[in-house]
Amino acid sequence: MRRIIFSFLAFVLTLSPVFADPDLLQDLCVADLNSTVKLNGFACKAAAAVNETDFFFAGLANPGSTNNTMGSLVTGANVEKIPGLNTLGVSMSRIDYAPGGLNPPHTHPRATEMVFVLDGSLDVGFITTTNKLISQTISKGDIFVFPRGLVHFQKNNGKVPAAVIAAFNSQLPGTQSIGATLFASTPSVPDAVLTKAFQVGTKEIEKIKSRLTPKKVI
Ligand SMILES: *[C@@H]1O[C@H](CO)[C@@H](O)[C@H](O)[C@H]1NC(C)=O
Ligand SMILES: *[C@@H]1O[C@H](CO)[C@@H](O)[C@H](O)[C@H]1NC(C)=O
Ligand SMILES: *[C@@H]1O[C@H](CO)[C@@H](O)[C@H](O)[C@H]1NC(C)=O
Repeated sequence: MRRIIFSFLAFVLTLSPVFADPDLLQDLCVADLNSTVKLNGFACKAAAAVNETDFFFAGLANPGSTNNTMGSLVTGANVEKIPGLNTLGVSMSRIDYAPGGLNPPHTHPRATEMVFVLDGSLDVGFITTTNKLISQTISKGDIFVFPRGLVHFQKNNGKVPAAVIAAFNSQLPGTQSIGATLFASTPSVPDAVLTKAFQVGTKEIEKIKSRLTPKKVI
């Protein structure tokens, strides 16, 4: 009997889905983004105040402006834009790329990402913890997966703009852009750390710092 119970438990554990965000404990918990209550996620707003606008967002319909240094723009459709996503463990974003545009190497600490190419083509890749680069060229209609937490990037090497829709298994995946994290934090990472880590002189570090503006939190 004990062996049967053990086998059953092992079976159930194997089938248990792995969530990046904690599972929900109620139908919905629309985020009260202004609540002063601090908890893991956001406090729920009063059920009577919930309506369809909490579950709606039209912000991914049109291309975002890619007129910036990297030639790319990420438009999030996460819990900050759609309060109804609170506790549901999913979100999306749209990324637009100018010809030559780059979504620079970054990680999402809380989510795996899948991108679906709307237009154009992209060279994409991620690097594993054994330092192997897994990369591919993807074009309209293709999907590519970036496992949770691994450093990844997308580059438009085509002559026309490109765009993807990205899906995440977190209501707020978080983005840590490697360049900005190391060279544009507040306060700054000490030069002595960066010169040693990258085996270069202070001049090179200062040059990189001067070209990366402080990170915008998305
Ligand atoms: C939250 O506060 C901001 C300003 O701080 C305000 O613009 C917004 O309407 C408020 N949202 C809600 C749901 O009360
Ligand atoms: C939904 O509630 C918001 C305020 O919380 C209000 O501005 C909006 O008009 C409501 N929408 C509908 C369709 O009732
Ligand atoms: C792109 O941005 C630069 C500097 O911010 C600006 O001068 C230029 O007019 C912009 N170009 C377009 C097409 O918006």
